[in-house]
Amino acid sequence: MPAVVVIGGQWGDEGKGRVVDFHSRYCSVIARYSAGNNAGHTIINEQGKFALHLVPAGIFRGDKTCIIGNGVVIDPAKLLAEIAMLSERGVSTARLLISQHAHVIMPWHPIIDRADEALRGELAIGTTGTGTGPAFHDKVGRLGIRIADLMDRDYFAEKLKHTLVYKNRLLTTVYGKDPLDYDAILEEYLGHAERLRPFVADTISFVQDADERGEMILLEGAQGSLLDLDSGTYPYVTSSVPASVAAGGAIGIGLGPTAIERVVGVYKSYQTRVGNGPMPTEIESGPEMEMLREGVGGAAGTAEYGTTTGRPRRVGWFDGVLARYTARLNGVTSVALTRLDSLSAFDSIKVCVAYEIDDRRVTTLPATLTEAQRAKPIYEELPGWKRDVTNVRTLGDLPTEARQYVRRIEQILGAPIDMISVGPERDQAIVTRDIFGASI
Ligand code: GDP
Ligand code: IMO
Ligand code: MG
Repeated sequence: MPAVVVIGGQWGDEGKGRVVDFHSRYCSVIARYSAGNNAGHTIINEQGKFALHLVPAGIFRGDKTCIIGNGVVIDPAKLLAEIAMLSERGVSTARLLISQHAHVIMPWHPIIDRADEALRGELAIGTTGTGTGPAFHDKVGRLGIRIADLMDRDYFAEKLKHTLVYKNRLLTTVYGKDPLDYDAILEEYLGHAERLRPFVADTISFVQDADERGEMILLEGAQGSLLDLDSGTYPYVTSSVPASVAAGGAIGIGLGPTAIERVVGVYKSYQTRVGNGPMPTEIESGPEMEMLREGVGGAAGTAEYGTTTGRPRRVGWFDGVLARYTARLNGVTSVALTRLDSLSAFDSIKVCVAYEIDDRRVTTLPATLTEAQRAKPIYEELPGWKRDVTNVRTLGDLPTEARQYVRRIEQILGAPIDMISVGPERDQAIVTRDIFGASI
């Protein structure tokens, strides 16, 4: 069986965690392949409501192997806290594996993350402040410390000594911060190492063996394609290497690209963004903004506030130009459309089908940041359905206007919508095509 990648088609928070939790029943391995604890994936199932930042959303199915792959950066204290939280709530982490090649977030990374943001001033990106970006900078700069390094006490002690000389010079001279203490970091991280050791494995070989045995592997993307370093709205993007897009899935777990046969694109029925950067369809104020942000008319308790930082998410209408761009960029073969219920209170709903930039009609990603800032959305307006849809489970039971909206999004994306999510809970979904070849 092939590997399937689940990616976000917008600026993150599309509901990837919710979709992976749903689909993981058909897979034997579920793996995160990029990013760090800047990601925040919400899952609501019979075991409760969870926000996961590093552990894959397949963890709730006890018979699956969950992997934090080589493409991820790991903050050991945060991961240990997440494992402890899951154990306390009765979720077994016995089948969790951590790649020995994953990079480690060190104490200087969050400090540099926040200091860089302050120095950028008006050009601040609005990062999560988790140190994820600087950990990837060190990976690319060949200064990173990997999980395997941390597991080797003597090597880690030596590597930390040399790296800290460099980092303390940077912290004190460039950033005007206090130097960090070698002994304190060594003791803390060696403690983390012992607690993480039982989980550490050669996950690349594990996944390759699983692939050869024909097992279904689900790769859980983080962020969204518009936050991708290469393909997103640069420089207002994240720093993951490998990429947050589907192509990064192979590299970030150690498979060849031919192993990935299907790409599930998760799209929200409208648009959100946390952090800074252009967002052509943003609604900056007024009742429509309030309704989208607070989730008026949709499932209770699902207002648009960041899972990781608690920041209010910027909201706007579905951006068909960017959505089509990311569907093609990822080779999306199947779409999961989420939060359809959140549009239930609107009389009419807008969809952006093109931009006007300096009197030109544009249907592709604006070439520059300034062009993106000047892009005025051209909207189509569709009728609303004004009915609660959270209990609908078949396409036929959706109001006609809702079906019309879904069909229009499908046309724009150019890929079939196989799952429509009408609420945050595991089974609040309409599944129109079985993409795993198993009966639903
Ligand atoms: P992720 O980062 O892509 O996994 O998404 P997040 O978990 O950060 O944000 C998605 C939010 O939408 C969470 O609060 C989910 O519980 C919620 N959610 C997911 N699907 C639906 C849905 O169909 N309807 C509603 N109302 N909320 C949803
Ligand atoms: P999930 O997986 C939404 C955003 C940050 C900021 C930019 C760079 O939950 O969809 P970073 O800390 O990565 O250097 O910040 O990227 N960002 C996300 N926004 N969802 C995410 O992940 C995000 N991860 C990073 O808000 O704008
Ligand atoms: Mg999120």
